[in-house]
Amino acid sequence: MKFHVLTLFPEMVLQGLNTSILGRAQENGLISLHAVDIRDYTLDKHGKVDDYPYGGGAGMLIQAQPVYDAYQAVAAGKRLRTIYVTPQGKTFNQRMAEEFAGEEELVFLCGHYEGIDERVLEEIVTDNVSIGDYVLTGGELPAMVMIDAIARLVPGVLNNETSARTESFYNDLLEYPQYSRPALWHGKSVPDVLLSGNHKEINKWRRERSVERTAAVRPDLYARYQAKEKAILSLGHHKREHIHMMELLRRGNGELLYHKDENVMLYDRECGACFLTASTPEAGEKMTAALLSGSCPLPEAPRWFVVCQDFLADFIQEAFGFRIFHQCCQACYTRKEPLLVRHKDIRRLDEGAKGYFLENYPYGDEGYFMDRIASGFLYGAFVEGRPVGFIGLHDDGSMGMLYVEEAYRGKGLGASLEAYLINRLRELDWTPYCHVFSENEASKNLQEKLGLYLSGDTIWWLGREED
Ligand code: ADE
Repeated sequence: MKFHVLTLFPEMVLQGLNTSILGRAQENGLISLHAVDIRDYTLDKHGKVDDYPYGGGAGMLIQAQPVYDAYQAVAAGKRLRTIYVTPQGKTFNQRMAEEFAGEEELVFLCGHYEGIDERVLEEIVTDNVSIGDYVLTGGELPAMVMIDAIARLVPGVLNNETSARTESFYNDLLEYPQYSRPALWHGKSVPDVLLSGNHKEINKWRRERSVERTAAVRPDLYARYQAKEKAILSLGHHKREHIHMMELLRRGNGELLYHKDENVMLYDRECGACFLTASTPEAGEKMTAALLSGSCPLPEAPRWFVVCQDFLADFIQEAFGFRIFHQCCQACYTRKEPLLVRHKDIRRLDEGAKGYFLENYPYGDEGYFMDRIASGFLYGAFVEGRPVGFIGLHDDGSMGMLYVEEAYRGKGLGASLEAYLINRLRELDWTPYCHVFSENEASKNLQEKLGLYLSGDTIWWLGREED
């Protein structure tokens, strides 16, 4: 990923971002940082870039010309996402960091003095972003803050097992307290549970501390968390039918758009899907109407609607012109015990497996593959050092993509791959589930053999006609 920073102080940006994790990420070619001195582009023979504001007022403004020319030199004819770093912008948060991390190139424009001539901002800026309600002397520090938050989401920048996307601000909760050696320091001991080795108990303890901390210092986040918990409870009345929506909320991915009784609507940005369930056609009609009128706004134009009732499938087709792409049933693994994995050589796939994956998974492109390895959940079964099959987690959180080479079928490799993935997900305290095409009897048999429960009800995936 490439970051371009348009600034009057390029050395400040370079010094701040060339060390530690981001310095290493640049050396490894995972990110590149290009600090552009706006002054290099001024046509003024004294190197001036600022002037007095028309109409009077304190201070000086950066003029349009040098900013525009610096931008043109960087963009080279492309239209790049360009962030103007300003206290007048939207407040930066983790969600925005995730969205920006999806771009290949980003331009940051740092203001100084009293700001920048509005006319050039109108021409080049796509996003106005602030880092908080306070005023700094310039945009360099805020740009560096944002670049740090975005760059750590680029695959490979942090070399931890599970993705950075699943950790802090997970599920609207703040992080729990952490402890390291020694177990006793200044007369204070580490909580016993953390020394117990019991991961289930540890996860439970951590979650409780996160909730406690969030309630104490961030009532805004806590209110969102509570609303989601209530929706999960309602969905849990028909758990097998709603496992996908419950897991999206539990894993911190879904944004709750609507919840009343057993009628729930949520949106997941990662897969670009709006998920709906309604207890009656009347309630379903009301929800669809709220989406259409904008009284319950969708955060972006969805790529999918995923609905649990046939009447909702009808409403969505009519209201949005989407058509049914998949008809599935859900299967979930709710047993306590981990599964036996017979095939011993199963490991995470990395970029080297791209060709193999693309050859054998007809529904995914390169972007999807990269995204799935970044999620940390794409595993291959290896024989004599080469992959002979794979399985992964889709962007909606369901298990899928299961593939085993013809020559290796009938040997239990598919079951091993799925069992392995189920065990990994259970370690995170997630409930593993998958969507099985309604007509795929072989897959249904595999799910039942592994001990997953199949839901008798159908869910529908609706997409745009042209996709
Ligand atoms: N420039 C000055 N103060 C700022 C802030 N709080 N956020 C973004 N840019 C700024």
